[in-house]
Amino acid sequence: MTTFELTEKYLLGNYGRFPIAISRGEGGYVWDEDGRRLLDFATGIAVCSLGHCPEAMQRALSSQGAELIHCSNLYHIRKQAELAQFVVEKMVQISGKVFFCNSGAEANDALIKLARKKAFDKYGKESGKNEVITCKQSFHGRTLGGIAATAQEKVKIGFDPLLPGFLHVPFNDSDTLREAVSEKTAGILFEPLQGEGGINPATSEFMQTAAELRDEYDLLLMFDEVQCGSGRTGDWCGWRTILKDSAVSVEPDAVSWAKGFGGGFPVGAIWANDACAPALGPGTHGSTFGGTPLGSAVCLSVLKTIEEEGILENVSRQEKRIRDVVSGWNIPFLDDLRGIGLMLGFVLNSDKMAELPKFAESGMTPAMYVVNKVMEKGMLTVPAGAGVVRWLPRLNVTDEEVDEALTLFEGVLKEIASSE
Ligand SMILES: Cc1ncc(COP(=O)(O)O)c(C=O)c1O
Repeated sequence: MTTFELTEKYLLGNYGRFPIAISRGEGGYVWDEDGRRLLDFATGIAVCSLGHCPEAMQRALSSQGAELIHCSNLYHIRKQAELAQFVVEKMVQISGKVFFCNSGAEANDALIKLARKKAFDKYGKESGKNEVITCKQSFHGRTLGGIAATAQEKVKIGFDPLLPGFLHVPFNDSDTLREAVSEKTAGILFEPLQGEGGINPATSEFMQTAAELRDEYDLLLMFDEVQCGSGRTGDWCGWRTILKDSAVSVEPDAVSWAKGFGGGFPVGAIWANDACAPALGPGTHGSTFGGTPLGSAVCLSVLKTIEEEGILENVSRQEKRIRDVVSGWNIPFLDDLRGIGLMLGFVLNSDKMAELPKFAESGMTPAMYVVNKVMEKGMLTVPAGAGVVRWLPRLNVTDEEVDEALTLFEGVLKEIASSE
């Protein structure tokens, strides 16, 4: 049976898959089962931060794999503690504590539990202080906690009763956020740079309002950096990149990571500052596979490589190179290039695309149409909602790969624009 047939016969149909089977990856490229090479600007949706099969990860996998693969959190694990030290001292640079899990949704579940438990410890059950406010177009994962937190109807449909205690406000709308917060609010959770919702950066004003409300109502300000963290914006922390040139200074109480944090190894994490970390004391939370010796060693190898090889600087430099070229393009249906660092979104104008007969006939969303056309020409990208195409290359993407992507992508957009 072919891979397509095996998939069809034995796998749950919960994913809409593109009609290719990837069998090998190296650096910035993947190969499908027919041996066709594709430039990978999807990287497993912002996961393979160092590209495919980087030597640092291979070394960590084989050396730690020969030493100790798994060990329960009943015991002390050196590599896990070293990874936590890196997160606190190099990434967040604010004193606090770390918990490891296996995915972004799990990390956000831990944030939600942290906010509720912190409020419970201080104000008691009767206070009802357990609500979490999140933002429209957000995406926080597919667990029951994740879909309750996610403010997109499509992820919730059919899964009632949802976990109660969530309020959703329009992203970057400080007035509505202010109206929504009450004594019952335990936390505010948002992505500093929304990914699945269409590459939307938070404004510094919104972040400041959230921080003021945190102080006023004694709640937790929590950032979901699952997609935008771990260096993708050119800083270890997405929120810092956003505030870099502003007069505003905001410090979160807790942050979640996954995706690029492990470079392709399934690792998730949260950091909680010293004031709220004690809320998750012994017996309150856990994960069999969270922070295994193997996962921690591999994750540490990824983060140390990013640090030691100046990869954060590469992220900002490549963003500038991309922006310089794209600003000179003349594509009638391309409205904008949004985003930060190497989390970029090409914003398509659906009305202008609707004038193109071939697109209109396709029945696809604008983003799906472009992603498919680009894939036919040998490059992987990802849709973000109906109207945005994401570029999420590896953080150590080379000049040559960026040049190739720019030429290929512009060529496809021009071809679509001139199609009858
Ligand atoms: C911002 C954000 N949070 C959480 C998640 C969920 O992560 P995972 O798929 O690892 O559970 C995602 C995944 O796309 C994400 O983009």
